[in-house]
Amino acid sequence: MEKTSAEKKAQFVRKAALAGREPIAFRIDGAEAQSLAGDTVLTAILLRQRTIRKFEFSSTHRSGFCLIGACQDCWVHLADGRPVQACTTLLETGMDICTEMSHEL
Ligand code: FES
Repeated sequence: MEKTSAEKKAQFVRKAALAGREPIAFRIDGAEAQSLAGDTVLTAILLRQRTIRKFEFSSTHRSGFCLIGACQDCWVHLADGRPVQACTTLLETGMDICTEMSHEL
C-alpha cells in the first residue's frame, strides 16, 4: 500500500489503536490537530511530523530519543509558556503545543 503524503511527512504511523479511544482536539504551532485519548504529547506530534522541536544548540531538529522520560530530548512548550516533557505527558483536549519556540524561552 502506498503511503499518503501525511504518512510520508510523519515520524510515526498508527497501524492500530485500541477500540474506544476518544478523539482529542489540540493545536500544534497554531494548526488544528487531532489524536486519540491515551496518546502522549510526543506521539501526537510525531503522528503529524518528523520532529518535535528545534535543537537549542544548532539548527537541527529533535525527535526525542529514549521515549521513557530519561534523556530530556523531548521538551516542548505550550502556548502559555509551560514546558512539557512530551514523552511522559498525556495529550489533553485543547493543548496548544509550540514546537518552534521551545528553544527561545
Ligand atoms: S524522549 Fe527522552 S525524555 Fe522524552
